Amino acid sequence: MEKLLIKGGNRLKGKISCSGAKNAALPILAASILCDEKLVLKNLPYLQDITTMFELLGSMGAEILLDENMNFTINTTNLNEIEARYELVKTMRASILVLGPLLARHGKAKIALPGGCAIGSRPVNYHLDSLKKMGVNINLKNGYIEATVDKLKGADIIFDGITVTGTENLMMAATLAEGVTTLQNVAKEPEIKDLAEMLNKMGAKIEGAGSDLIKITGVEKLFGAEVQIPADRIEAGTYLVAAVVTKGEIVIDDINPVRLMRVIEKLKETGAIIEYDNNSISIIMRESIPKPVDIQTAPFPEFPTDMQAQFSVINSISSGIAKVNETVFENRFMHVLELNRMGCNISVKGSQATIKGVHSLFGAEVMATDLRASASLIIAGLCAEGETIVDRIYHIDRGYERIEEKLNYLGAEITRLPS
Ligand code: EPU
Repeated sequence: MEKLLIKGGNRLKGKISCSGAKNAALPILAASILCDEKLVLKNLPYLQDITTMFELLGSMGAEILLDENMNFTINTTNLNEIEARYELVKTMRASILVLGPLLARHGKAKIALPGGCAIGSRPVNYHLDSLKKMGVNINLKNGYIEATVDKLKGADIIFDGITVTGTENLMMAATLAEGVTTLQNVAKEPEIKDLAEMLNKMGAKIEGAGSDLIKITGVEKLFGAEVQIPADRIEAGTYLVAAVVTKGEIVIDDINPVRLMRVIEKLKETGAIIEYDNNSISIIMRESIPKPVDIQTAPFPEFPTDMQAQFSVINSISSGIAKVNETVFENRFMHVLELNRMGCNISVKGSQATIKGVHSLFGAEVMATDLRASASLIIAGLCAEGETIVDRIYHIDRGYERIEEKLNYLGAEITRLPS
């Protein structure tokens, strides 16, 4: 297995660009199932999760072509299979995103039931209960969701809990349903709006995405379209945190700061100076020690759970004590044990972590457990004394495009060690 070797202590300085957002790209790729024409996708990130989604769509009959400008064309004219096999679903839970589109196009789907994962049990009951309200029959059999419907019917749905991929699944299913669907208690993440914009480009009639109430008026057919995947707000946030812990000075281009407002507020609390315009964010950390920041994760527009692990590193080298409440996932503190091996002082009780700032961190051999946990270990390695080796970096390759190249460009010293 490949590993990353990080020599700590370098100050990050310079300018980089954001890649396309994984969590915007995955539902947009799933939406290709909804039409039988070509979709052209620009700025798709080169990530393992995207390759897995390609494999899934390919296994159903989609054709995927890459042109000389690095744009992808997805042709779903011959997409006839309705099954998402366990081998693929177990490596990427977001495979569940094909459920709504398959029901809309074929009236049936067979999707392996995603199991738990390192950050929580992550059931899909909100997706299934809501689809039932649109007339879908669902059977759970041999570890698979078997779903069938004659014709999806519009319905008024209030989700039992806020779910990002659940909101996306229902929004996609409702585009081709008979009549009007309203969705309430929905996720308001920017990626929901990105998907709605793309579906509307394909001919859907969706209003209110990004607000508390989404209204979808079903249409007969969707058409091919061309779409630019927006920049990854979590990738941008991760590099901003790396700048804080290395007392750096960086600029991130191609990112809309509105998507990161809570993160920017918290970064300012650490003592960092941040400026932004419509399309870039700059950060300078002049304080020698960051101030601690309390955090409570919650659905957008609140502080994202996907940035919680990275902020643990800022708090670990801060001048005081911080409390972190994780309210989205029940087990998203797996990074803590590894960070403590690097000298951090973090204790966890239930859904709250208490982080006491220490004078310095030291390099160690550590193991990544999930995507954002791996990012926190790399960030810790950047500010630790000596060398850090991060194992199981296949997690990082799922969601960060060329992370060591981008950080090295800013002055880090990271080497990918072959397996
Ligand atoms: N939940 C249920 N039942 C459901 C659905 C969700 O109980 O049917 C619970 C989950 O267990 C969790 C909470 O609701 O406790 C929120 O889960 P949600 O469904 O919103 O998460 P998701 O859609 O599976 C997406 C992102 C995650 C991100 C979360 C929260 C994608 C592909 N994934 O997951 O991204 O953490 O929303 O913002 O969009 C990542 O990129 O590292 C990542 C994990």
